[in-house]
Amino acid sequence: MKKRIFSGIQPSNVIHIGNYIGAVKRWVESQNDAEKENIFCAVDLHALTVPQDPKMLRERTLELMALFLAVGLDPDKSILFVQSHVTVHAEGAWLLNCITPEGWLKKMTQYKDKSAKQEIVLTGLLDYPVLMAADILFYDTNEVPVGNDQKQHVELARNIAERFNHLFGETFVVPEPLIAEAGARIMALDDPTMKMSKSMAHVKGHSVNLLDDPKDIERAIMRAKTDSGSEIRFSKDAEKAGVNNLLTIYQVLTGKSQEASELDFANARGYGDLKKAVAEVVISATEPIRNRHKEIMTDRAELERIMRVGADKARVISEPRLADVKRKMGLILP
Ligand code: AMP
Ligand code: TRP
Repeated sequence: MKKRIFSGIQPSNVIHIGNYIGAVKRWVESQNDAEKENIFCAVDLHALTVPQDPKMLRERTLELMALFLAVGLDPDKSILFVQSHVTVHAEGAWLLNCITPEGWLKKMTQYKDKSAKQEIVLTGLLDYPVLMAADILFYDTNEVPVGNDQKQHVELARNIAERFNHLFGETFVVPEPLIAEAGARIMALDDPTMKMSKSMAHVKGHSVNLLDDPKDIERAIMRAKTDSGSEIRFSKDAEKAGVNNLLTIYQVLTGKSQEASELDFANARGYGDLKKAVAEVVISATEPIRNRHKEIMTDRAELERIMRVGADKARVISEPRLADVKRKMGLILP
């Protein structure tokens, strides 16, 4: 039996190289693994958990679908769709809400961080991980490739699956988070003690975004914060976080080992050489994506067709599980 893979990304803000390295790039690798059946989703309902401009959200969702294609996801090999096009997610989240203790949600670190920054905390923000559990569980997902920050949410989905199975009998597959060894937490260029984050993407120098032009990429990387030393090596020392982050980006994008990456800089004259090399690999990884994206965005009708086909395939998988869950919980099926 093939392993089923499900992952999602929000169409909020632009996609940065942390999203690419921690998640999307790995989806493309997963798609090319014959042992896996892959489903990737633009999670627009999740984006609504913080205020969005409606017009922008629509545009960003289309752009994200185009980005899926531009990075090499193929609608003939993977299921690519928009979350709100398949009503199973919202319905399923409600059903799972009714077996999930609220204490589990209040403990989530992302909720604690995000809610501390909001004046009004929306109920959807608290409930966000239950919607994510529905995304995962109604597809009988085995593995969820995500960055480090989503590990706790996948663990919550596991707890919800186990609780449901305990209450109503064996139903859900208990999913595993799939976290990369390298690059699961890319740090901000301007402050390598915090993670690169979409919500900070508007701050100059914070991140490199997948669709940035080469000049901006070079500028952001050349200005990246490092330490006052000159040693180019991987390190867990807080002081070396900037260099460690640049080396990690270099390592993942070149596909080299840590040793080989360090060796490439054995004769470097300083951090300037490292930054130049990192800028080069980031530009050569992102430039083809940017060009393809531009081209794909010119054919909206085709994008819309791809979204429809993906949603149809997603429904075929998730609707039977939804009916099963409704029946087990005591609802009359129409
Ligand atoms: P989000 O930006 O929250 O929609 O996240 C989309 C995907 O990117 C998730 O799998 C995250 O875990 C991953 N991700 C987000 N930020 C980073 C980061 N700084 N480093 C690595 N992965 C990340
Ligand atoms: N919450 C995830 C994030 O912000 C996105 C997401 C939603 C997701 N549903 C998912 C990831 C299901 C994996 C599986 O990064």
